[in-house]
Amino acid sequence: MNKGLIILAACCAAVAAAPFALAQDETEKGVEKYRQMLKEDPWSNPGLLDADRGEGLWKTAAGPNKVSLEKCDLGKGAGVVDGVFAELPRYFADASKVMDLETRLMWCMEKLQGWKHADLVKKPYPAGGQPVKDLGAIATYVASKSSGMKYAAKLDKPEEKAVVDAGHAIFFRRQGPHDFSCATCHNDSGKRIRLQGLPYLADPKEAKQVIGQWPAYRVSTTQVMTMQHRMYDCYWQMRMPELEMGSDVSVALIAYLTKSAEGGEIAAPGLKR
Ligand code: HEC
Repeated sequence: MNKGLIILAACCAAVAAAPFALAQDETEKGVEKYRQMLKEDPWSNPGLLDADRGEGLWKTAAGPNKVSLEKCDLGKGAGVVDGVFAELPRYFADASKVMDLETRLMWCMEKLQGWKHADLVKKPYPAGGQPVKDLGAIATYVASKSSGMKYAAKLDKPEEKAVVDAGHAIFFRRQGPHDFSCATCHNDSGKRIRLQGLPYLADPKEAKQVIGQWPAYRVSTTQVMTMQHRMYDCYWQMRMPELEMGSDVSVALIAYLTKSAEGGEIAAPGLKR
């Protein structure tokens, strides 16, 4: 772990002076080497600490109703965690809604534990350097229980298809003060902003490589970031109004990205720049 961090730090220091394109290559190589080292010693990914914390939270009685989430149905029956993430988002008849993992967890926290929706969506993401919040830790735990599986969300019910189509439309829709769409930054191979690579998310080949790594531990902010948080952050980058956790737009975007990544391997928690 320490060795990995030292290598990463050394690599970042080295690239600071190099020309940009070259610097990006070097950064990618450095992060790739770091990832490789983590793979060789999987227990060194700091995100696993949050997955562990999430497991504890899943099983602990909490909220006004003082019950655990163990009766929460994430799609394969109450309490089933293994493999559920690989089949999300999906339509939930009890909520009459398509939900991604975090939205469904929030629903269970409301319905089972009695938390207020308004409180759950208020400041749901940590500030830089702070650990992922409880819901995010639980999401990390649940996602980690599908690690090694392939994305196999069916998304074939009419309700699900409509949500994927909406996500597709939103992905390409230019909006906001800068007239950005997601596609402005994510619809081409090899693009970057400063040193940050921008994956071509509408292309299943590239989507398959990256989407299954979320929730991911981000080295730059030393915390786990969830997929809902990722959407929120990219919306912020577009200078759009704040994207609410679990909103129809957030779920539609995640459903579209998951569809684009269908068949890709899940490796959560992943590791990002
Ligand atoms: C202004 C450019 C910009 C726009 C517009 C933008 N993003 Fe991003 N996006 C980024 C950057 C930069 C990163 C990488 C951040 C990093 O490396 O820390 C990123 C990362 C991502 C990732 C993670 C990729 C990975 O490597 O795993 C996803 C998923 C994503 N964006 C989705 C979206 C979606 C969906 C939209 C539209 C709502 C969007 N982005 C709009 C700049 C943008």
